[in-house]
Amino acid sequence: MAEAKLDKSASGWWKNAVFYQVYPRSFQDTDGNGIGDLRGITQRLDYLQTLGIDGIWLSPVFASPQADNGYDISDYCAIDPMFGTMQDMETLISEAKKRGISIIADLVLNHSSDEHRWFQEARKSRDNPYHDYYLWRSGTPDCPPNDMQSVFGGSAWTWVPEVEQYYFHQFAAKQPDLNWDNEELRRELYRCIRFWVDKGVEGFRLDVIDQIAKDPDRFLTANGPQLHAFLQELRREAFPEPGIVTVGEAWSANVERARVFSAPDGSELSMVFQFEHMCLDQQPGGQKWDTIPLSLPKLKACLTRWQQGLHGKGWNSLFLDNHDLPRIVSRWGDEGAYREKSAKMLATMLHGLEGTPYIYQGEELGMTNIRLELDEYQDLEIRNMVQEQLARGDDPERIRAAVWARGRDNARTPMQWDDSENAGFTTGTPWLPVNPNYRQINAAQQLKDPDSVFHTYRRLIELRKTYDVFREGSFRLLCPEDEAVFAYVRETEREKLLVVCNFSAEMQDFTAPQEFSDAKLLISNYTDQSCTLRPYEAKMLYLSKDK
Ligand code: NOJ
Repeated sequence: MAEAKLDKSASGWWKNAVFYQVYPRSFQDTDGNGIGDLRGITQRLDYLQTLGIDGIWLSPVFASPQADNGYDISDYCAIDPMFGTMQDMETLISEAKKRGISIIADLVLNHSSDEHRWFQEARKSRDNPYHDYYLWRSGTPDCPPNDMQSVFGGSAWTWVPEVEQYYFHQFAAKQPDLNWDNEELRRELYRCIRFWVDKGVEGFRLDVIDQIAKDPDRFLTANGPQLHAFLQELRREAFPEPGIVTVGEAWSANVERARVFSAPDGSELSMVFQFEHMCLDQQPGGQKWDTIPLSLPKLKACLTRWQQGLHGKGWNSLFLDNHDLPRIVSRWGDEGAYREKSAKMLATMLHGLEGTPYIYQGEELGMTNIRLELDEYQDLEIRNMVQEQLARGDDPERIRAAVWARGRDNARTPMQWDDSENAGFTTGTPWLPVNPNYRQINAAQQLKDPDSVFHTYRRLIELRKTYDVFREGSFRLLCPEDEAVFAYVRETEREKLLVVCNFSAEMQDFTAPQEFSDAKLLISNYTDQSCTLRPYEAKMLYLSKDK
């Protein structure tokens, strides 16, 4: 049995933990301006405590012009007034701590806002002390250094007439990349991190951290030669405390690289947050908008490689949803008659794995994608893509379908708290429309219903804290070629767990291995048991070898 209380001063506590991502602008508004705020999160801590989570990954609340909803920071040590005050942040940290919940701040160290004081100085002259905090290349106004493209569309280079140079930005022009080769810049960043550690922040999510060491002349963004040296220095200088948890977003990570990032000696990061499994339903080599049907055997092969490849050698994050991805029920489940069943099935599949689970706000309710008109979207990635594709004459219907399936605003609609106006999110006008299905899908109703998606998540968290096999067990995949059934076994010397999930709306045959004939049923999304698997059926069977 796993111990009940986590010692958060010790390295590795996160292996027993479950985290919850809050996207502040869409969580809970308390001042009626239609945008969520820090006080709103504090108000909802009891709800999160009921769910049983150990930490909140708090998407950025730092001062920002909000070009990319806070992933463009203009002051790393200030709270954006839109979200509240420093006092509100301190209250959130201390009230969360009282409930056993750590705050994990979201640090964007790859780039700042172009409105950051450093960049404002940097662009004044080539001999300004801050100039070298960013990446500059000479050229002429009509001829950028090369044709590298920004992730959000257009050139990755923007001309600044004052210095007659281009600066490099992997994301929007308002997000200039920081030059990690500059030591003084690195020291400034570490000082900002210490500021938050001193305020009681217990961990950091590090945005696109695999991209901090880059060489745009060689078209190299991720995994530059200095990356590991930078990460080791970051660990030593900014978070030497063994209990500080760090999760590195790394789109480029493969299993081998992840072993280095999250090596058990703790010299770099506590865990990686990588997306290989979330890219399988995308045209290989294509853009994120080019969707193909998910192949379950491919998903199983991918997760198996990660489970087995990191076992004892590194640590992974487990997730299906976040603020950059569409809602998982709409994506791999069923938005219709089997919404609840499929939401529970997906949760069961994920929470049986080794790693640290992340629940994205509303996932625990089975929230779904939204369908808006193209001009209602707020996300700059969607807006740029729509503009670009319309300009080149693409069919608007096709563009709309792509946004409905893949757009980031699908996950950013306000949290659905109850069936009152605006789902209890705000008394004002929400910054992004509330999903009209909030009268059927909301927290108040699910808290009352012991059979809800919410209570499935609560129970899964409880199970992970009860049985060591969730943390330590080896992983064995069953029926790898089956197109509909995902079944696997986790095993330690003393325990065995079988997880069985039907990814389809059809009945499926599945016979549990003989070794589980006396196993106890831990959880299931059907109340009675049957020999065949019903639509989206999921269950976990458990055996202790002690008796
Ligand atoms: C990853 C973040 O999750 C995403 O929301 C953001 O747009 C980019 N990094 C740029 O910071």
